[in-house]
Amino acid sequence: MLASLDLSGRCVVLGVTGSIAAYKAAPLVRQLKKAGAEVQVLMTPDAERFVTPLTLGTLSEGEVLTEIFPENEEGSWTKHVTLGQWADLFVVAPATAQTVAKLAHGFCDSMLTATALSARCPLLVCPAMDRDMYRHAATQDNLDRLQEIGYEVMPAAHGELASGLVGQGRMPEPEEILGRVAEVLAETEPTEAPGDLPLAGHDVLVTAGPTREPIDPARVLTNPSTGTMGYALAEAAAARGASVTLVTGPTALSPPPDVEVVSVRTAEEMNEAVQARGTDADYVFMAAAVADYTPADPSTSKRKKRDEDLVLHLRQTPDILKTLGAHRRPDQVLVGFALETDDALENARHKLDEKNLDWIVVNDPTEEGAGFGSSTNRVTLLHPDGASEDLPRMPKAEVAEALLDRVLTAHHDPGT
Ligand code: C5P
Repeated sequence: MLASLDLSGRCVVLGVTGSIAAYKAAPLVRQLKKAGAEVQVLMTPDAERFVTPLTLGTLSEGEVLTEIFPENEEGSWTKHVTLGQWADLFVVAPATAQTVAKLAHGFCDSMLTATALSARCPLLVCPAMDRDMYRHAATQDNLDRLQEIGYEVMPAAHGELASGLVGQGRMPEPEEILGRVAEVLAETEPTEAPGDLPLAGHDVLVTAGPTREPIDPARVLTNPSTGTMGYALAEAAAARGASVTLVTGPTALSPPPDVEVVSVRTAEEMNEAVQARGTDADYVFMAAAVADYTPADPSTSKRKKRDEDLVLHLRQTPDILKTLGAHRRPDQVLVGFALETDDALENARHKLDEKNLDWIVVNDPTEEGAGFGSSTNRVTLLHPDGASEDLPRMPKAEVAEALLDRVLTAHHDPGT
């Protein structure tokens, strides 16, 4: 029966924990792959004492993950979330008493347990442990708890155990697990394939929020931007499958899911972060309200209140978007924002040309329900060919969706 199993296109996360039965994870991976499944292996650190990541990585044709926080700092620490969404099924085989306990109580101290908490798909737990550990009331309670929270549990098999004891505690054979995997997958809708997401495979860079320019250690020049528009764009682009980096000035917002966040304070720091990533990005949305001027000579100690008037010497900050526009890849899409109070369209069109952009999004901070701090926005989109479109006032999340719709319709597959 198993020879004819077809799991093509199904995405399976296999969690392997520190039991002697971990060696059986190797044939399980092999059979899942043979049946056409995509397999991502996660191991607990203890599992690596029983079977090497090299073995399981070679069989699964991918990197085996163990730590939540990647050693390489460039890697994304939100991978557990992405994987949890990607999986059609999460199998834990073998599942030790320790991992069963952690799963039952919501621990997330490894890539495996954190991904299990993030997963939206069914979970199939295949316990493997010594007879008395399996029988123990604590383990049995934990297995009951797993079923109560909706996990599938395959009872351990009866037979000889590594300790020499005979009893229940053996991991079910890979063929049996595979049979159960096929049954569970047959009842589960596939997750949306990356190909169905229009921004899958694309890098999107978004900036958001204000910058803070230090006058002295206790004072800054800043503006009322809350970052809402940029955060909404980052979240909307990630939901369409993009790999999103959000370079953000200080805001009170929580980071959107599945987005790599780079926090900066000054225009200079934002410039460095953006220029370092700008050429790789297929789409850039520069929604940050970057200060145009910064104190030329910030004081390292708090300035004393002495004179009636205080004159600050300011110097211009780098124009981040203009620099990107000057060195742009021809196939990149660059989108700027313009906050204008007078002659809005004329000024914005000038910025569109000057900064060499594909689009500029114009809004007026003095208009009610638009601009800084408002949950809604009313914008006009301008394009270099002269086209313009007024969008009605709507929540910033909807403005983000509308903007992505327009940009994706006009530019197919930059960077490919
Ligand atoms: O400030 P200005 O109206 O020129 O801003 C237009 C666009 O340029 C915005 O997208 C803003 O984020 C960007 N900008 C920038 N660097 C600056 C000032 C603005 O990238 N120093």
